[in-house]
Amino acid sequence: MLTRSTLGMMHLMQPLQLLICVLATLAILTLTACTTPRGITSHPPVTWAIALHGGAGTLDRTAPPEELAAYRVSLQAALDVGRERASKGDSALDVAEAVVRVLENDPRFNAGRGAAFNEKGEHELDASIMDGATLQCGAVAGVRTVKNPVSLARLVMTQTKHVLLMGDGAEQFADAMAVERVPNSYFSTDRRRKMLDEVLRERAAVGPRSDAAPRNPRTTYGTVGCVVRDTHGNLAAATSTGGLTGKRFGRVGDAPIFGAGNYADGYAAISCTGTGEEFIRHSVARTVAARIAFGGQSLEQAAHTLVFNTLKKDDGGLIAINAAGNIVMLYNSEGMYRAAADSTGWQTVAIFEDDTK
Ligand code: GLY
Repeated sequence: MLTRSTLGMMHLMQPLQLLICVLATLAILTLTACTTPRGITSHPPVTWAIALHGGAGTLDRTAPPEELAAYRVSLQAALDVGRERASKGDSALDVAEAVVRVLENDPRFNAGRGAAFNEKGEHELDASIMDGATLQCGAVAGVRTVKNPVSLARLVMTQTKHVLLMGDGAEQFADAMAVERVPNSYFSTDRRRKMLDEVLRERAAVGPRSDAAPRNPRTTYGTVGCVVRDTHGNLAAATSTGGLTGKRFGRVGDAPIFGAGNYADGYAAISCTGTGEEFIRHSVARTVAARIAFGGQSLEQAAHTLVFNTLKKDDGGLIAINAAGNIVMLYNSEGMYRAAADSTGWQTVAIFEDDTK
């Protein structure tokens, strides 16, 4: 900005000095705008930014184009809700919850309707939400009749002294909160049933420990999540999942575990997708934020280290955003359903690495 004293100093300069001064200032401004750690150049400062994912367990890239196109339509619809809410100044928490609800209601994704089946052919859902400004957070695990688990997680955060309710206790809490309920079969889809059949067939052939390490990511994992930087500069993260296909009854993954599959503080907001056991083992979400806070790493460096050095190939991926509104969306699987946008008008919807839109 050209302040009154800056203008006074410029008045005293010789023309050549003035030219050098102006050119140097322009060079600094240009460099600052071109070094966002998103891997995409030239973004001026943003007032809001949002990223979402629909899981790292994607269709094969040789899937029928119309099926892949339908996923892009779903991602765009969720992104549009987030853009609309964020651009009118809604809080990061409100935006993250609203976007995850859209993804939970969409049967294409493994969360809410469309959730994975456990080994008993039922659905147990996990979800969480966290406010980066206050570190307030709430989560539910193993819920069976709550249409939108992310909203029950938000109520755990705002209406209890706790951060995580599970199973029957979470269902009783849902009774008290009068959130929308559905029969467990509401979450079932033919596509996920076929995946369960495939996993159980493989398990029968391979042996008893085959439930510990999924062999085909596309048939086992998937999650949805959203991270937001709002117009006030606050961050939030929300994550929701049906978990791993064929998981043991009672198994809880990383999505409701703060620091593992979901985390937000003043430095970053992170939502993960993949084999939850690995994300819990390595405290992936919190470690990304800690590398920034204590290690001085950029968002991209921190996320890259976790996804490509700490985790193994096909473990999954994550989306993350920092206080400047920079976004990273990284994965070590074949693809990750993802979308992002910010207040500059930039947006992207993608599944595989070479997607350009
Ligand atoms: N990442 C989801 C799960 O493992 O449950």
